[in-house]
Amino acid sequence: MCGIIGFTGDNVPAVPILVDGLKKLEYRGYDSAGVAYFKDNKIEITKSKGRLTVLEDLLKTKKGTDGTVGIGHTRWATHGEPSDINSHPHISNSGLFAVVHNGIIENYATLKEELKEKGCNFLSDTDTEVIAHLLETSYDGDFISTVKKAASRLEGSYALGILCKENPGQIVCVRRSSPLIIGVGTDGNYIASDITAILTHTRKIYQLDDGEMALLTPKKVTIFDEDGKEIAKKVEKVTWDVAAAEKGGYEHFMIKEIMEQPHVLAETISPRIASDGSINLDGIDFTKEQLKKVNRIYILACGSAYHVGVVGKYVIEKLTSIPVEIDLASEFRYRNPLVDSNSMVIIISQSGETADTLAALREAKTKGARIISIVNTVGSSIARESDDVLYTWAGPEISVATTKAYSTQLSLVYLFAIYVANKLNKIGDAEVKKLLSELNALPDKISEILKLAPQIETLANRYAYLEHAYFIGRNLDYAVALEASLKLKEISYIHSEAYAAGELKHGTISLIEKGTFVVGLCCCERLVDKTVSNIREVKARGAEVLALAVEGNDAVAKEADRTLYIPSTHEIFMPSLEVVPMQLLGYYIAKARNCDIDKPRNLAKSVTVE
Ligand code: AGP
Repeated sequence: MCGIIGFTGDNVPAVPILVDGLKKLEYRGYDSAGVAYFKDNKIEITKSKGRLTVLEDLLKTKKGTDGTVGIGHTRWATHGEPSDINSHPHISNSGLFAVVHNGIIENYATLKEELKEKGCNFLSDTDTEVIAHLLETSYDGDFISTVKKAASRLEGSYALGILCKENPGQIVCVRRSSPLIIGVGTDGNYIASDITAILTHTRKIYQLDDGEMALLTPKKVTIFDEDGKEIAKKVEKVTWDVAAAEKGGYEHFMIKEIMEQPHVLAETISPRIASDGSINLDGIDFTKEQLKKVNRIYILACGSAYHVGVVGKYVIEKLTSIPVEIDLASEFRYRNPLVDSNSMVIIISQSGETADTLAALREAKTKGARIISIVNTVGSSIARESDDVLYTWAGPEISVATTKAYSTQLSLVYLFAIYVANKLNKIGDAEVKKLLSELNALPDKISEILKLAPQIETLANRYAYLEHAYFIGRNLDYAVALEASLKLKEISYIHSEAYAAGELKHGTISLIEKGTFVVGLCCCERLVDKTVSNIREVKARGAEVLALAVEGNDAVAKEADRTLYIPSTHEIFMPSLEVVPMQLLGYYIAKARNCDIDKPRNLAKSVTVE
């Protein structure tokens, strides 16, 4: 997510406050930064790609940066690669408005065309720039009513900080779906995307709600509802320290990111489903003839991204009937793979910098395959070297153990499979509509599942001191078992294995003895009976079984010692629901063991070496 800071005071230079605030937001991850401030009654912009030190060096070369009002921004790129020109703030052509933005404007392409026809000249590839021009073309002489008019045209998520040249000293802000707070200070007033940016200046804040706007002057904050009517809001006192504030009040980034999943999943899915029900894969557009030529799809990745690929195999083959081969990137790159120009290769990577995955991409490319990557980091090496990129808009993922990136990767794999199957006439428009409706319902179902957290924490305290764990499942349950096992072992250091339930009897069942902890994933409805019989097998050898099942399936609870129930959805989307309790189980077990959850030993967030 991007970071926003703004300040308006009487006789306190704004720029040092802005830069200091952006430094406090660095933990959120960013690729560029910038500030806008008044100088000689004009709005001045200084911004650059790279770290904040680059911005600071730039500011040192500028004169007249002592204005007392300004806005600042750290960018996590979603639309448009990291670059100086794509950095925020963005300014309208005449310099009348400057804006910083956190979120995604889903209808930016339509607005951009409309504004170009009105003569607006676009400099960047961002969705945000349309807001600056929309403000200018909507300007009616009144700052607040102009912002209200412009905001009413925006679809998607936004938290905006805005300067207007005709209103020096003022900041207007507005939010929808992206957080924005207002800080009430003694030397002026602040806006920020999260409290960490202004905690050293004030602990008195207003939390804006969706649709609300505010007008800040050095002495006053006026808040308006989305109809433009002035409203009174209660000032809240923040008691968090900086560390807690960075995690949004959560104890660890991992649990914060687990809880963010409904939001980021909606952010990733909804812009890809057009109002007419068609799928928009960010410009990726294959003809039926091109897809008929594809004789094999390879999915290459490492770690959790590989586990997304395992789900992808089942889903893509089921919907498209195209053979799918999944491979660990570190293996693929050394086995002289039989890839050719009729192969399509899907690369999955959160960081977009994993060395083995990048090497596998290059290996496949030299053999003529078309490369599509699913990446969370805009402008990363894997993104740049792919023929097509689908970005997960999960925002920066700080915890080494991936959760929200994994979930958003799954959603793009589903969308891709539905898109290809429909193009190949394997599924009709009615089936597409049904699937997309279920896909759109996933965020709310995940929100429901997250309410199980206290129950799972209690369970976790029971299992926290076991030495071994086995996760078993069949078909897509097995794919989730792989991810569940990795989540547990990488943050709790408990030895854990994932096994295809039908494979247990071929050796591993010899390890099951009294008290062995086994998690049975029983959400693949058509195979539940088989998995239940595998649960019976391990129970007969003394195992303690925690099962995961779909609400209403009582057969499972009869066999398992304890059962967690989750809502159902279309079978191909079940992994997105099953993984959430497994993430929580791993998190709470690691927490009970006082592990270093966000930075587990021996691990790096991005493995950029072999
Ligand atoms: C997952 O929790 C791990 N942090 C790790 O397996 C990770 O998924 C793997 O290293 C791949 O990273 P990438 O997605 O950035 O390529």
